[in-house]
Amino acid sequence: MAEPNTAEQIRQDFAPPQVPVEDAAREMEAFARGHHSEGRRVVLITSGGTKVPLESRTVRFLDNFSSGHRGAVSAEYFLQAGYAVIFLHRHRSMFPYSRRYAATNWLDVLQLHLPTDGSPRVEAEQSQLPGIVQILQDYKSMKQSGRLLPIEFSTLSDYLHLLLAAAQALSPLGSSAMFYLAAAVSDFYIPASEIPEHKIQSSSGPLQITMKMVPKMLSPLVKDWAPKAFVISFKLETDTEILIEKARKALATYRHQVVVANILDTRRAYVVVVTSTEETKLSVSQEEDHSGVEIEEKIIKDLTLRHTQFIEGTEVN
Ligand code: PMT
Repeated sequence: MAEPNTAEQIRQDFAPPQVPVEDAAREMEAFARGHHSEGRRVVLITSGGTKVPLESRTVRFLDNFSSGHRGAVSAEYFLQAGYAVIFLHRHRSMFPYSRRYAATNWLDVLQLHLPTDGSPRVEAEQSQLPGIVQILQDYKSMKQSGRLLPIEFSTLSDYLHLLLAAAQALSPLGSSAMFYLAAAVSDFYIPASEIPEHKIQSSSGPLQITMKMVPKMLSPLVKDWAPKAFVISFKLETDTEILIEKARKALATYRHQVVVANILDTRRAYVVVVTSTEETKLSVSQEEDHSGVEIEEKIIKDLTLRHTQFIEGTEVN
């Protein structure tokens, strides 16, 4: 039975986290308790890729492609649906609302006015920020509502420690807590006891490293950490032939509620929501895409409905 020891393994076998986990744990616990007492559902969204250091004084690391787009967009739709959102995201990955301007060079957007008789003034060129009025309104009202708690990670170890803390914060909420695990988490790591301290020297020749398998967090999450919560994992593949089979295998292994299956190249336009009894295909047509429809809007609409059924005990899966 490896599962009950996963929390211990995270604490002992992984490098110490580089973020203040205890502070984040306190914040998440207070946030979850406060919103739950006001009758609100709380979702933990994980977003972005994890960094796996190859040296403890890190010069090199293993990373992955995830931009955090899925998580950031999803956070907006969960907020719109009335959820309180813990947004556990990779440092500098996409962030709700500001993600629309992620590629903006602010120095080109800002205009400098230097009046001879007053202080310098900086103004934004509104035409270069499409949709800014609505987005600013949404962002300000979300801030005022206090329904978004951003928590950052960089390394795999940060992520694992924070996921455990988040599960402990959300477990008391029972079925009204949702886990939406969209982060792309490394499956491989170098144990703290084996990681070299200093920069690996290229003069030693070609690099050969053996990495251990990261235990799947879904297993202890579903069994021990938050057993009553509504849990959604993601399954990413590059081969369409094996996608649904892998999603079904995950559901059978971890016994959680939903897998959102997606293919790397088409992930912005097509996903399959897989439960033990159903496969629901969601897609965004080219026409919808041009008019600004995002697949996450459809995913969140589908999942919030399933969450309601889960809470009410009427779910079919
Ligand atoms: O960020 P974007 O660029 O927008 O891309 C979005 C996305 C493709 C990253 C996202 O839609 C997605 O599919 N995320 C999951 C990617 C992934 O890591 O899939 P996986 O098959 O390796 O993992 C499956 C599930 O197991 C994940 O929900 C993960 O949270 C979970 N897992 C992974 C590793 C681990 N040690 N324990 C876990 O529980």
